[in-house]
Amino acid sequence: MPRLVWLNGCLSPLEEATTSAADHAHLYGDGLFEGIRIYGRRVFKLDEHLDRLYHGCNYMGFEMVIDQPKLRAIVLDVCRKANEDNGYIRLNVTRGSGLGLDPRAVKSEPNVMVMVSTLNLYPPEAYAKGLDVVTTSFRVAPADSLDPRVKCIGRYASNILAKMEANKQGAGEGLLLNNQGYVAECTGDNVFTLKDGVISTPQPSSGILRGITRDTVTQLARGAGYEVVECNMTRYDLIEADEAFLTGTAAEVIAMVSLDGRHIGDGKPGPVTQKLIGLFHEHTKTGVAFD
Ligand SMILES: Cc1ncc(COP(=O)(O)O)c(C=O)c1O
Repeated sequence: MPRLVWLNGCLSPLEEATTSAADHAHLYGDGLFEGIRIYGRRVFKLDEHLDRLYHGCNYMGFEMVIDQPKLRAIVLDVCRKANEDNGYIRLNVTRGSGLGLDPRAVKSEPNVMVMVSTLNLYPPEAYAKGLDVVTTSFRVAPADSLDPRVKCIGRYASNILAKMEANKQGAGEGLLLNNQGYVAECTGDNVFTLKDGVISTPQPSSGILRGITRDTVTQLARGAGYEVVECNMTRYDLIEADEAFLTGTAAEVIAMVSLDGRHIGDGKPGPVTQKLIGLFHEHTKTGVAFD
């Protein structure tokens, strides 16, 4: 399918969209991104994604020339022009262009891209059966390094390597621990367990991206009467859980049915996970309409 790209004010097909070879994300990974879903001609959690992006710009010291309401309007306009009922938006902001690490050498006008495409991360069978997950040898960066709450392009190199490890073992996802050995997250999703009726998930400061799907599912679960707690979690907590599931914009909500070859619960997507998948799908109707 054709992919439409808005790049620094120009709209074009993907193949024609170009930026400087000295873009700082190209040279050093010095950029931020958001992946956002379109469901039924509505952009899901658009404002939450923009809030995270602009907090990231502040953390990284990017001098965003486009303010948040303007970028919001651009995203909706590109969606209208791309005319996809269901799709995936990739929103990138980089520091700007310039050779050398020193940001003072960068023409500090961030490069901004909005791309509309499609995405199917897992086949329907994966949702029906759940995912086998393996623990990878990669640890998330500690918060006093590059805090994983910042969705920085450069940090994803280690997630890609972790994904390669998981792929080699035929697993659906790879788990990363933090430096203390506690569960952090998977390569592109947050982790939850259910034990004795209580839903648990690692706390944001343990080295996770504070996922927008994570926060959405937490609210939906609380609304459905479940207690949801943030805590330190070990691999043992995952293996002895009654159910476990992953959340992310790309993955949505998907059961995790084993870790490192040990089944979780009865090794099938559990009833609470299935209920949350249903509630989440219902909630995807609440996005921002672009028509
Ligand atoms: C490392 C990582 N953790 C968690 C998530 C889930 O975040 P969200 O629900 O905002 O997509 C992602 C999504 O891109 C991710 O890359």
